[in-house]
Amino acid sequence: MIVTTAQLFKHAYGKYAIGAYNINNAEQAMGLFKGAIDSQAPFIIQISKGARSYTDKRMLEAIIRAAGDIFPDAIFAVHLDHGDEATCYDCIDSGFFSSVMIDASHDPFEKNVEITKRVVERAHAKGISVEAELGMLGGVEEDIVVEEGHSCLTDPAEAEEFVKQTGCDSLACAIGTSHGAFKFKGKQSLHFDVLEKIKARMNGFPLVMHGSSSVPQDEVARINAAGGTIAGSMGVDVNEYLPAAKLGVTKINIDTDGRLVWTRVHREFFRDKPAEFDFRPPGKIFIVEYAKFIASRNVLLGSAGQLADLRASLTK
Ligand code: G3H
Ligand code: 13P
Ligand code: ZN
Repeated sequence: MIVTTAQLFKHAYGKYAIGAYNINNAEQAMGLFKGAIDSQAPFIIQISKGARSYTDKRMLEAIIRAAGDIFPDAIFAVHLDHGDEATCYDCIDSGFFSSVMIDASHDPFEKNVEITKRVVERAHAKGISVEAELGMLGGVEEDIVVEEGHSCLTDPAEAEEFVKQTGCDSLACAIGTSHGAFKFKGKQSLHFDVLEKIKARMNGFPLVMHGSSSVPQDEVARINAAGGTIAGSMGVDVNEYLPAAKLGVTKINIDTDGRLVWTRVHREFFRDKPAEFDFRPPGKIFIVEYAKFIASRNVLLGSAGQLADLRASLTK
């Protein structure tokens, strides 16, 4: 069942976080739905602009529709990740997305407000939720590269003002994470002080944490042992997911970790079977391994085991 992120957040706020996982193909979709059902967790499917154009935007929508039929008990939102204004409108008009993210965080405050307000108006007219972003993460967001040291944490007073002015349904805050596999150089920790200040001003308002992959070091070691050269990577401490959720982080975005699962499975498979050229055997292993990964993350986020209670709350 497709629901809005607002419906998911209402159930989760302050208790647990919903995992928001990026997908690009059928194998990821199968693994994601399987892992969610195995762990009895609601989830958010995120589709980036790059994912939409990887094959054809209609292909990914059809895959998700099919996965929803194969796993009829799944409760999930379909969300545009890091949208620009035009892509937001395209997704709103598609009739398939239940929420969109407008990311104008690279623009000055006033322009970010202006753009976000326009998207909120168009989305709310169709019952679609809107995530916006304030502050700047380090790393790469779609086509935008933020140099290290140039990312800036979200200002709590500005966040309160931004939400008031735009009417957005959730806010992505910069609290020290960045996209990709190389998040921290020194101390590996989220800025809980910023989260506490935001919560003090906006209690009950759902926050979003981008760049939340944990970059498991055993996964990286296996990739490197099978020919990879990923050096010096570091991710978010998984033990910080739940404390962040208690402070209002209701959506936790994970993409890179799934890519690492894919890379490990395929590198090890072809290293061990150099004469193989059928892509289905490693694809099948990937689906199982990705499902296991998703279920393990849902346990850490506290979303595992929430499906029955959420379903009951939705039908009240
Ligand atoms: O935040 C970006 C996501 O990880 C999506 O990445 O734009 O390469 O699909 P992508
Ligand atoms: P990671 O690169 O940490 O997986 O972050 C993903 C993300 O924020 C997608 O919007
Ligand atoms: Zn992101």
